[in-house]
Amino acid sequence: MSSTAGQVIKCKAAVAWEAGKPLVIEEVELAPPQANEVRMKILFTALCHTDVYFWEAKGQTPMFPRIFGHEAGGIVESVGEGVTELKPGDHVLPIFTGECGKCSHCNSEESNLCDTLRINTERGVLLNDGKTRFSKNGKPIYHFLGTSTFSEYTIAHVGCVAKINPAAPLDKVCVLSCGVSTGMGATLNVAKPKKGQSVAVFGLGAVGLAACEGARMAGAGKIIGVDLNPDRFNEAKKFGVTDFVNPKDHDKPVQEVIAEMTNGGVDRAVECTGSFQAMIQAFECVHDGWGVAVLVGVPNKDDAFKTHPLNFLNERTLKGTFFGNYKPRTDIPSQVEKYMKKELELEKFITHSVPFSEINKAFDYMLKGESIRCIIRMDA
Ligand SMILES: NC(=O)c1ccc[n+]([C@@H]2O[C@H](COP(=O)([O-])OP(=O)(O)OC[C@H]3O[C@@H](n4cnc5c(N)ncnc54)[C@H](O)[C@@H]3O)[C@@H](O)[C@H]2O)c1
Ligand SMILES: [Zn+2]
Ligand SMILES: [Zn+2]
Repeated sequence: MSSTAGQVIKCKAAVAWEAGKPLVIEEVELAPPQANEVRMKILFTALCHTDVYFWEAKGQTPMFPRIFGHEAGGIVESVGEGVTELKPGDHVLPIFTGECGKCSHCNSEESNLCDTLRINTERGVLLNDGKTRFSKNGKPIYHFLGTSTFSEYTIAHVGCVAKINPAAPLDKVCVLSCGVSTGMGATLNVAKPKKGQSVAVFGLGAVGLAACEGARMAGAGKIIGVDLNPDRFNEAKKFGVTDFVNPKDHDKPVQEVIAEMTNGGVDRAVECTGSFQAMIQAFECVHDGWGVAVLVGVPNKDDAFKTHPLNFLNERTLKGTFFGNYKPRTDIPSQVEKYMKKELELEKFITHSVPFSEINKAFDYMLKGESIRCIIRMDA
C-alpha cells in the first residue's frame, strides 16, 4: 500500500484553460480511484498530434479546462475496488482505447473497438460516475481520452492500462502507448503488404514513420513517403522510405504522380496526416484490382470523404483503424518485449526531450514540423 492510497493527491498538471493558449502548470487535486480505476504516477509522456487538434479545437468540439496527453509510461500508485490485474508498483502504459475483455469486440480476433472503452474524444469524464477526478479549487477539470497524462498523477479505467515488463525503460517504450503502435499496426495488421509490394505512406510524423517501419518489416519493395514538409525525407530514410513525393512539387494530383511511379498505383497506402484531402489521395492512389488504403489520421468533426464509386467497383479497398488494431492489454506488453529483444527500434522516433515545466515547447516543435516525438520528463 502506498502512503497516498485512498487520499486526494495534490500534484502538478499542465492545464489547458482555453483553446490554443499555452498550457499552464497548476497544482491540481486528483481524487482516489473509484471502482475499476487505476491511479498512476506518470514518469514520461509524449505529445501526439491528436492532443494538438483538441487543444487547438479548430475543427473539434471545444472542452475546457482540460488535461491533455495520452502517450505515456508510469507506475501504479493505487487501484480502486475490483481491480485485481494491477497492483501498486506495476509499470504500465495508459492507452487511449481500452479492452474490457468481455464484449463482442474484445472477443473478436478482428476488432479492437471495445464496446465500453473504445476511444471517445468527446468524453471529458470517467465512466464510473460520469464525473472528473481532477479539480482545482473545487472546479472540475476535464479528462482527455480517459488518460490525461500531462499530469504527475492521473487515473484511467483498468481496461485502458497495459502492464509491461518493469525492466523496460519508460522514457523509450512510452511511444508504444500511441504513435508507434498505431502506425506500425496500421501497416502490419490492416494494410498487410506482401513481400516486394509497394506502399505509400501519407504524412511522415511518428505515426507515418512507424507505418513506413511496418512496411520495411513486411519486406515491402518500394516505400513512398508523401509529405508537404521537405525536411521529412532525410529522417524518413531511416525508416525504410525509398522514394519521396512532396505534393507541392507537382502540378498534377499526387494520385497521378504515384500511379506513374508504380505502374498504375501502389499496392497499399496508409494515410497518417489527418487531412481529408490526403485521405482521398491515399485511396485513389492504390492500384485497381487489389489495392488497399488504410486511414489513420484523425479528421475534423465536419470533414467528408468524397470519391467516385467507380474507384470501389474497380476493386480497391478502403479501411481505417484506431491504434493499429492492437488490443491494448493483450498485444502491447509483447511489443515492449520486442523492443527489449532489439527487434524494434524506438530511439529513432525520439528527436526531442523537455522537462515538464517546458511542455509548451513540445507543442512548438510539433507545430513547426521539427520533432517526430518529444518526450516530456515529468520529474524535471
Ligand atoms: N487512428 C489512430 O489510432 C491514431 C492514433 C494516433 C494518431 N493519429 C493521427 O495520426 C495523424 C498523425 O499523427 P502524428 O502525431 O504523426 O502527427 P505529425 O504532425 O507528427 O505528422 C503529420 C505529418 O503529416 C504531414 N501532412 C499534413 N498534411 C498533409 C497532406 N495533406 N499531405 C501530406 N502530408 C501531410 C505533416 O507535414 C506532418 O509531417 C494525426 O492525424 C493524428 O491525430 C491517429
Ligand atoms: Zn496519439
Ligand atoms: Zn470490450
